[in-house]
Amino acid sequence: NPSVGLVGWRGMVGSVLMQRMQEENDFANINPVFFSTSNAGGAAPSFADGAGKLEDAFDIETLAKLPIIVTAQGGDYTKQVHGELRNRGWDGLWIDAASTLRMNDDSIIVLDPINRDVIDAGLSGGVKDFIGGNCTVSCMLMGLGGLFKNNLVEWGTSMTYQAASGGGARHMRELLNQFGTLNNEVSSELDDPASAILEIDHKVLAAQRNGVDATQFGVPLAGSLIPWIDADLGNGQSKEEWKAGVETNKILGTGKGTDGKDHIAMDGLCIRIGAMRSHSQALTLKLREDLSVTEIENLLAKDNEWAKVVPNTKEASMEDLTPVAASGTLDIPVGRIRKLEMGPEYISAFTVGDQLLWGAAEPLRRMLNIVTG
Ligand code: HSE
Repeated sequence: NPSVGLVGWRGMVGSVLMQRMQEENDFANINPVFFSTSNAGGAAPSFADGAGKLEDAFDIETLAKLPIIVTAQGGDYTKQVHGELRNRGWDGLWIDAASTLRMNDDSIIVLDPINRDVIDAGLSGGVKDFIGGNCTVSCMLMGLGGLFKNNLVEWGTSMTYQAASGGGARHMRELLNQFGTLNNEVSSELDDPASAILEIDHKVLAAQRNGVDATQFGVPLAGSLIPWIDADLGNGQSKEEWKAGVETNKILGTGKGTDGKDHIAMDGLCIRIGAMRSHSQALTLKLREDLSVTEIENLLAKDNEWAKVVPNTKEASMEDLTPVAASGTLDIPVGRIRKLEMGPEYISAFTVGDQLLWGAAEPLRRMLNIVTG
């Protein structure tokens, strides 16, 4: 079995990764070497037999002995360690959840149910850096792979409803604390069915404006939303919005030819909402052909085993097309598919996905399996 260095296995994404690797018995194919940025010499986790002691995640010599390193430690770690390793001649495989290396020419964004051909071509061409995609992009492509892979999308907009977990564990806690603060503020009025709703609303608003802790998000999220995610690129676009276009095309391998004719224009607005760990997005797609809704649904359903077409009815949408329905599962529900007023090639769609699973951990463990399984 190949030795695989695991870095950042204790954080939120790393914990989900470890959980999935145990569920799928991935540890049977590897000899895991656990690293730590803060507790080198401590005991390695017990879920992998014979893993021994934690190694120092900044010890380049130890890292360089490994043929494969998987990291969910974050972008700062990647920045600090990856270049140093490569500069000293390390030619192992680097599998990473952080965005740092994602758009480099010599890296591949991994989402194998969608781009196994791109991954295989990269492996045989000597690519060594395999990076997980942006969560929103990965979840969108898993749901709508049947259209994107068959070159049926001319352009698309994605308007997102992104969960607190995209910010990190502390953001999830902050959201829940905000909900709690707001509830506490009006709990006696809520207990009294005769109390005035406008008075309750007034008190909640006052607490949102003055009282809730918003250290992580900067502004209240509970009972509100935040129409900006990630850095301001200075051209009116957020970094999260920029990723939708560039990563979609990189994952699919489109838009690379000199004429760039197969480039898919993808753009939209990214919005943070008070969901826990599933990102949702409402899409408008301009298709290259006039396909019936049934044809579209069939393409989506048969593209991969995780895309789950939800019939475009009120009952099914409310039941099956929500963060509550999707969270904690590998299913990517996709629904609200209908022809729009603008013309026969214009459709709407809505898709939801657990941003810690298909959005982060799952593509990494599957990439590891491609090279070790
Ligand atoms: N940038 C994403 C978000 C998470 O903030 O929701 C990571 O892809």
